[in-house]
Amino acid sequence: MTTQTNQTTPPGEGNGLTMRAVVQDRYGADPDAVLTVAEVARPAIGDQDVLVKISAAGVDMGTWHCMTGMPYAMRVAGFGLRSPNAMNPGRALAGTVEAIGSAVTSFSPGDGVYGSCDGSFAQFASVPAEQLAPKPWNLTFVQSAAVPISGTTALQALRKAKVQPGQRVLVVGASGGVGSFAVQIAKAMGASVAGVCSTPKLDFVRALGADHVVDYLEEDLADGSHEYDVIIDIGGSRRLADLRQALASQGTLVIVGGETGGRWLGGFDRSLRAVLLSSFVSQTLGLLTSTEKASGLDTLREMIESGQVTPAIDRTFPMPDAAGAIRHLREGHSRGKVVITI
Ligand SMILES: NC(=O)c1ccc[n+]([C@@H]2O[C@H](COP(=O)([O-])OP(=O)(O)OC[C@H]3O[C@@H](n4cnc5c(N)ncnc54)[C@H](OP(=O)(O)O)[C@@H]3O)[C@@H](O)[C@H]2O)c1
Repeated sequence: MTTQTNQTTPPGEGNGLTMRAVVQDRYGADPDAVLTVAEVARPAIGDQDVLVKISAAGVDMGTWHCMTGMPYAMRVAGFGLRSPNAMNPGRALAGTVEAIGSAVTSFSPGDGVYGSCDGSFAQFASVPAEQLAPKPWNLTFVQSAAVPISGTTALQALRKAKVQPGQRVLVVGASGGVGSFAVQIAKAMGASVAGVCSTPKLDFVRALGADHVVDYLEEDLADGSHEYDVIIDIGGSRRLADLRQALASQGTLVIVGGETGGRWLGGFDRSLRAVLLSSFVSQTLGLLTSTEKASGLDTLREMIESGQVTPAIDRTFPMPDAAGAIRHLREGHSRGKVVITI
């Protein structure tokens, strides 16, 4: 990752008009080649926006997709056909309110907040107030930055599955960013939880509170030995037939994601097939398209402050090594969340 220093003020100090930020003006799979740290203009805020001074920013697999523009379908969906519309791939943040738009009544300068935006790998971001919430009092900024995107995705997936106390829930991809929240939230909902991950991460998933762990390198979740009321599929992109084999006849499958490497649809075709098939079978098969609203962050804050959910932080990277953070995640090293400190 290269660093540009075209500035007349000390790095990070700016003149009140500029800030340090990760910038990207083209798509690419090598984070060192496409990400740069530069002095850029501070974002302006609109009436409904909040200017946040960022302390920490979460990294998730969506960060990699924004950086690479892969699968191509997302470029057509509005991320930018030939180059990224958003020049900074960071989305999750935690920090302190610096200023508020004229129509914002729910925040004041100095408030500790967490949420999501375009461009969180930066000293400041303009965040729509509806995507921001007070951060949990018992979390650091680093821990708080892990929650937006991954935590809200896990919450929405479990809600979509209408998880009830006592149900048997299988989380496929339990050791990752979304999965580490899904295991804890499902437990908080009163479910019996099994988590699927690789051998080196079994203890980590047990420590999250999973009642059972399934090692996908050694065991086949579709061998007929266990049946689940709900499957949240976050990793591995198993065939629909395999997932249905492990699902109770009236059970619910929610597909969140999974990295197939497919250049055009990236496995989205599997999710669409699940939705189409759902009308013809007794099981409910669906996909999740997560949204980034403050209401989910408010629910998660309650779970976090009551001790039911604690973000699992794998490690942090300083902003100049944002490329290293993304590479670490993409190479499958992390247990839980990777966070960039600003
Ligand atoms: N639908 C939405 O709105 C939405 C929102 C957010 C994320 N997503 C998607 O969700 C996926 C996960 O994101 P993330 O940030 O949680 O990624 P992550 O932190 O890299 O986690 C990936 C998880 O998948 C597991 N995994 C890998 N290969 C597997 C296999 N063959 N069988 C079972 N599990 C396997 C990993 O386990 P090991 O590390 O133990 O191998 C890990 O637990 C991504 O595809 C992302 O794009 C979708």
